[in-house]
Amino acid sequence: MKYKALVIKEDKQTYHNSIEELNISDLPENDTLIKVKYSSLNFKDALSASGNKGVTRNYPHTPGIDAAGIIEESSGNKFKPGDEVIVTGYDMGMNTFGGFGEYIKVPQEWIIKKPKNISLSESMAFGTAGLTAGLCLRKLFANGLKPEDGNVFVTGVTGGVGIISLMLFKKLGFNVTAITGKLDREEFLLNLGANEVIDRKTLDLDLISPLQKPLYSGGVDAVGGKILSNLICSTSQRAAIACCGMVGGLSLDTSIFPFILRGLSLFGIDSAESLIDVKEEIWNNFSSNWKLENIDENIKDISLDELPDEINKILNGNQIGRVRVVYD
Ligand SMILES: NC(=O)c1ccc[n+]([C@@H]2O[C@H](COP(=O)([O-])OP(=O)(O)OC[C@H]3O[C@@H](n4cnc5c(N)ncnc54)[C@H](OP(=O)(O)O)[C@@H]3O)[C@@H](O)[C@H]2O)c1
Repeated sequence: MKYKALVIKEDKQTYHNSIEELNISDLPENDTLIKVKYSSLNFKDALSASGNKGVTRNYPHTPGIDAAGIIEESSGNKFKPGDEVIVTGYDMGMNTFGGFGEYIKVPQEWIIKKPKNISLSESMAFGTAGLTAGLCLRKLFANGLKPEDGNVFVTGVTGGVGIISLMLFKKLGFNVTAITGKLDREEFLLNLGANEVIDRKTLDLDLISPLQKPLYSGGVDAVGGKILSNLICSTSQRAAIACCGMVGGLSLDTSIFPFILRGLSLFGIDSAESLIDVKEEIWNNFSSNWKLENIDENIKDISLDELPDEINKILNGNQIGRVRVVYD
């Protein structure tokens, strides 16, 4: 049987994409076949689609680190045909064909049964970006962060991780400083619940001083580099930062002062390889006490054919909010 997928091919170190018909029998020998109903676009997919060998070693390849769909067949013991399920991360979309195809075949250990109070389409409004935001907040709350501790920040706030972090913080009663490169989106961010919006240029500087005015009790950083380096120095006593992204740079310029004089904690988040129980906990939160009723408002729904344009936008830092891939 045939299915449609986005295929990335390598030709002398350049990478081309096309929508192709592939055979289901050529999918990897994993135990569970899923008919994908929705996927979503993440920064990592754009890296895979543009030949980043740290993400995808071998081409031809179908990216897509997110998929929500229905079990078609499984030789495992956890799922039966017809179950509605969510798969994010692990090797899917990296070196195992991913959600930018109408079918995936993955090990049952990667799969989560969709919680009752969230639809398959809503789950892909969150996708890995939302899961990552949820994992960041989970770490901060485990460290004791509460709304009354003071302002929190979110960087890369118009992006996928950023926007959902902002919405979750707001829902849970926090005052949020939104840090963005898109000041023309100030109104949009204020409407989503930001208490103030700051131009990221004011932080994208060589380290200003190892200890700066203590402005934040914590935050979610999706950017890294100079912006994170400066924010580390602007935290209050016992603050915590969850860092997950690198769009602004890979290195960190810091000193031990914020750590030993203010008790700062810096947590790294890796959503792809998070334990399945932890992922399940976050999906359950999204369907209950962290439910975002307005999650669908900032989603752009596209078909498989529209993906290449959206991939270019995310690579150029021009994407706003989340892009969901919808199959027939
Ligand atoms: N660790 C994990 O498990 C995990 C999971 C998911 C994503 N990530 C990483 O998190 C980051 C964000 O992912 P995403 O899916 O939210 O991507 P995204 O939708 O492309 O958002 C990234 C946002 O970062 C800002 N930005 C872009 N270029 C920048 C630059 N040069 N300097 C500073 N800020 C810049 C932009 O927001 P503004 O214009 O509003 O500043 C952009 O919208 C990526 O590095 C991604 O790989 C990590």
